[in-house]
Amino acid sequence: MISIQHVSKTFSPVGHRGADATAVHALNDINLEIADGDIFGIIGMSGAGKSTLVRTINLLERPTEGRVVVDGQDVTQLAGADLRAYRRRVAMIFQNFGLLAQKTVLANVCFPFLAAAGKVTEADRERALGLLERVGLKEKANAYPSQLSGGQQQRVAIARALACDPEVILCDEATSALDPKSTNTILKLLRDINRETHVTLVVITHSMDVVEKICKNVAVLENGRVVEQGPVERVFEAPSAQATRVLLGRVDWDA
Ligand SMILES: Nc1ncnc2c1ncn2[C@@H]1O[C@H](COP(=O)(O)OP(=O)(O)O)[C@@H](O)[C@H]1O
Ligand SMILES: [Mg+2]
Repeated sequence: MISIQHVSKTFSPVGHRGADATAVHALNDINLEIADGDIFGIIGMSGAGKSTLVRTINLLERPTEGRVVVDGQDVTQLAGADLRAYRRRVAMIFQNFGLLAQKTVLANVCFPFLAAAGKVTEADRERALGLLERVGLKEKANAYPSQLSGGQQQRVAIARALACDPEVILCDEATSALDPKSTNTILKLLRDINRETHVTLVVITHSMDVVEKICKNVAVLENGRVVEQGPVERVFEAPSAQATRVLLGRVDWDA
């Protein structure tokens, strides 16, 4: 269980203290509970704070205030080896896939082993090939990312995310750069992996379509605040926040 408790994040301007240097309050008192095995959507417009919020979960961003408690442990207090160990439990995939262009598909999937242990064993390579098979790309093991379509690159990124057997995968706009067909392939793959492994998925998106297709619960973020949250069916049936109605397209676009 991931418990986000009163998390705020303020970006202070660095380097100059001029009168026009204003702080950005990216997150304001966020409270969320994400259950193990859930597919939890975080939706909001561009600039709402989604990426900042998801980055506080793996501590790529440190909250200015509040705590992130995972399985009863305040992970915002972790440092050094404990922090590195925690980060291995939380994988991430991105809009632009984040593959290493100079490395083959197989080497990309093996990269977490290299990062964690300084070497890649034969057993690691076998495991990576198994993961490539799971995402349907075993025959591309020796190809380079640039030789793959966007959807295929994201499947490689998913295989890489699974390499360290994570408890959580953070997906930040994972399908936003893909066409509708590749989007569906990726969403189905993520849903099936969730069912098979019970890995928790945190799905950041600006698309209600993505939320409707795979999420069980959703939080709507607006200007760094959670304005609505609940089970997806309830939120679609009876949205309470104006921001949700806009995202659902239930407000005239030129109103
Ligand atoms: N490193 C940073 N420094 C300063 N401001 C930032 C930084 N990262 C994000 N922001 C600001 O925080 C707000 C939320 O950004 P972000 O979390 O990227 O939103 P989203 O992912 O929902 O589009 C925006 O106003 C953005 O400009
Ligand atoms: Mg973002």
